[in-house]
Amino acid sequence: SRVVKLAVIPGDGIGPEVIAEAERVLDAVTANSDVTFEKTRFALGAARYLETGDTLTDADLDAIRAHDAILLGAVGGTPGDPRLKDANIERGLLLKLRFELDHYVNLRPSKLYPGAPGPLANPGEIDFVVVREGTEGPYVGNGGSIRRGTPHEVANETSVNTAFGVERVVRFAFDLAERRRKKLTLVHKTNVLVHAGGIWKRIVDDVAAEHPDVTVDYLHVDAATIFLVTDPSRFDVIVTDNLFGDILTDLAGAVTGGIGLAASGNINPDGAFPSMFEPVHGSAPDIAGQQKADPTAAILSVALLLDHLGLRDEAVAVQQAVEADVAARTGSRTTAETGDAIIARLQA
Ligand code: NAD
Ligand code: IPM
Ligand code: MN
Repeated sequence: SRVVKLAVIPGDGIGPEVIAEAERVLDAVTANSDVTFEKTRFALGAARYLETGDTLTDADLDAIRAHDAILLGAVGGTPGDPRLKDANIERGLLLKLRFELDHYVNLRPSKLYPGAPGPLANPGEIDFVVVREGTEGPYVGNGGSIRRGTPHEVANETSVNTAFGVERVVRFAFDLAERRRKKLTLVHKTNVLVHAGGIWKRIVDDVAAEHPDVTVDYLHVDAATIFLVTDPSRFDVIVTDNLFGDILTDLAGAVTGGIGLAASGNINPDGAFPSMFEPVHGSAPDIAGQQKADPTAAILSVALLLDHLGLRDEAVAVQQAVEADVAARTGSRTTAETGDAIIARLQA
């Protein structure tokens, strides 16, 4: 029987609450299959940092790298907490994992499930995937500032876009579009960001020539936010840079029934490093510790994880259990009650 080594990082805030349910679902769906998940827990996040001063040590990273995949809840403290330096956990832990493990595809599917409490009056069918570049753009952290504390302070954050980095994620997006409805939308801001936008546009045009059956269009990011609300069914695969993808996928989550439903995968398609699966949302300090968080995004992240590992039947079973549960939801539930309901569907 197959053994999968899974690193579990519950994280901060609602992270441990939603990961508890995700693990229960994973246990339930693999209970009678011939795959065994050997889990290692990593206590990483703002809480650990406040205790020890460590974000992600080399030893942590080496240990995580030795796993087949990673399941992460959410990391980060309350925005503005003076004890946490800005970006410490985000950059020192989450982005460090994504960069060191070369998660160049940040895959964020959005689907409006029947019965989901979407905010749109006439949503139509919503079923698209954002392929967000995961290792470059303004996230690389090679900015800087000078003359801090003076009226002449200058602060820069440079967006890094390499031909190698853009081409590999664009190729992934085209391959995905080929397997879906064959429509690809590049989102950028070429009217202002001429260099960064220019390389994306040129590479998309070049790769498009190899995919004559994929319809390609382009939207500026501001216009894309309009259409995500007014005409979301126009989208199939959206490919975009790291920052635009971050912003669009919170909006996409809201449009498809709430951020509590939005799952994601940080994929290293080459398989050289373990891929990492996590909800799109954060640690939600405003509701942490109250059993108010919706664990569905974490549970759907388990479905993405199973699919990535080639465990198709298990992935589909989780996906279908979630869909059936979403369609039947009424009133408010605790985090664990939603886990229970999804597990009951799995076992039905
Ligand atoms: P957030 O996603 O944590 O919360 C935004 C809003 O959505 C809050 O009102 C929250 O209560 C609600 N929400 C989020 N997840 C929910 C769920 N499962 N069920 C119900 N409601 C949910 O965003 P934020 O407040 O900007 O960030 C909080 C912290 O999380 C910050 O430190 C941030 O850096 C971090 N963060 C981490 C990740 C990650 O680990 N992948 C992602 C995003 C933000
Ligand atoms: C996300 C988060 C992260 C991001 C932050 C916490 C670094 O917002 O996963 O969407 O911007 O990628
Ligand atoms: Mn985000």
